Amino acid sequence: MSAPAPPIRTLDKSGNEITTVGFQRFGFDCEVSLDVLRSLYLRPHYVTTVASSDATVEDDAKEEQDHAKFTQGHAAYQSKSIYHPDSQSISYTTLSRFPPVRLVPPSKRKRILVTGGAGFVGSHLVDRLMLLGHEVTVLDNFFTGSKTTVSHWVGHPNFEMVRHDVVEPFMIECDQIYHLACPASPPHYQFNAVKTIKTSFMGTLNMLGLAKRTKARFLITSTSEVYGDPEVHPQHEDYWGHVNPIGPRACYDEGKRVAETLTYGFHRQDAVDVRVARIFNTYGPRMNPYDGRVVSNFIVQALRGEDMTVYGDGSQTRSFQYIHDLTDGLIALMNSDETRPVNLGNSDEFTIGEFAELVRDIVEKVQEEDGVKNARRVNIIYKPILRMTLKSVDLIRLVLNRLSTGNPSGRSGWV
Ligand SMILES: NC(=O)c1ccc[n+]([C@@H]2O[C@H](COP(=O)([O-])OP(=O)(O)OC[C@H]3O[C@@H](n4cnc5c(N)ncnc54)[C@H](O)[C@@H]3O)[C@@H](O)[C@H]2O)c1
Repeated sequence: MSAPAPPIRTLDKSGNEITTVGFQRFGFDCEVSLDVLRSLYLRPHYVTTVASSDATVEDDAKEEQDHAKFTQGHAAYQSKSIYHPDSQSISYTTLSRFPPVRLVPPSKRKRILVTGGAGFVGSHLVDRLMLLGHEVTVLDNFFTGSKTTVSHWVGHPNFEMVRHDVVEPFMIECDQIYHLACPASPPHYQFNAVKTIKTSFMGTLNMLGLAKRTKARFLITSTSEVYGDPEVHPQHEDYWGHVNPIGPRACYDEGKRVAETLTYGFHRQDAVDVRVARIFNTYGPRMNPYDGRVVSNFIVQALRGEDMTVYGDGSQTRSFQYIHDLTDGLIALMNSDETRPVNLGNSDEFTIGEFAELVRDIVEKVQEEDGVKNARRVNIIYKPILRMTLKSVDLIRLVLNRLSTGNPSGRSGWV
């Protein structure tokens, strides 16, 4: 039998191995093991095919060994389900053991509500809060989130999951509210702009009302988009922004701005204890691969062996923070005394061209480690920024369509 696969190691910028995430600072400890966290997202729902008659014992052992590379000795925290090709069915299993959570004295254990807890950011926050030993309730309508992101906690005595839309009031006793519920990527928030702004306004109003009644501390995840199309770089928290209230992104940007206004209204008028995190671009496991953002686009293209598309000459700069760092920031902010808005992001900027090359290199490295080979090296191609062209093409198509249907005003065609 071949030697066991080497464990996955993560190194920091100076080459030192990272084994934990979180920190012990400000008299507050939110440090947890990276391996345990990883075992929750790298392969949480491992599906294996039932051994066919011609499968050998070696095949099964190899499959187990490949899987062990991801579980790093924590296989009990994963559900291994079995696919039966003959009957086209699947036998789901549940965890045999939950990951160990910290034993916290009742005086320090918090009852925490996380709205949007089944989404990308929310699910990582839930993992961390659970491992730290708190009682966590996830409230989500599963519009962009999914039950599978937190299903490894279902059944744990400290965990509850509720399907609920924040636009409707919700009552629960709690000590802290992390209010994340809101679609965050442009295709999702533009899908139903009215619903997005309702979620930002009414959802935040309902959750602030709950915080006022229960005297819970309230943290809202706002966004760097409140600065709009900024005229100041970098943006500090006291910059008021340069925004467009009627553009296609306004439902999100203005929604978050009004949510911040409401938050400070409750703070000043009703003494609600508030925290405001303005989050900048974040990436990491469980982000939606089709959310149309540059990180996911590059990774998906490189994995598929397709050319990676950079719009413009690639010299424009961006910064991205990793999800574990954002989680640290959210927990630190919630447990700090800072009631003013706080930017959470990464100050190191990359050019998009450099970033494309970095993604290509990492994808190649991972594929090599996993024994996968793309037929050819992926190219990075540069295309002109499409904004104006697209608009003109769309306009021409619209006019052509109206002329051909004999309805130049197009009125009856508006939806
Ligand atoms: N990911 C980022 O880079 C980023 C950047 C800035 C701000 N944020 C903010 O962080 C929060 C989380 O973002 P994310 O990236 O995890 O997005 P996401 O879409 O993955 O998660 C949002 C979650 O909220 C839920 N939700 C949406 N509308 C709801 C409603 N009406 N009622 C109940 N649940 C609802 C979704 O089902 C999903 O689980 C959002 O408030 C977002 O604005 C994220």
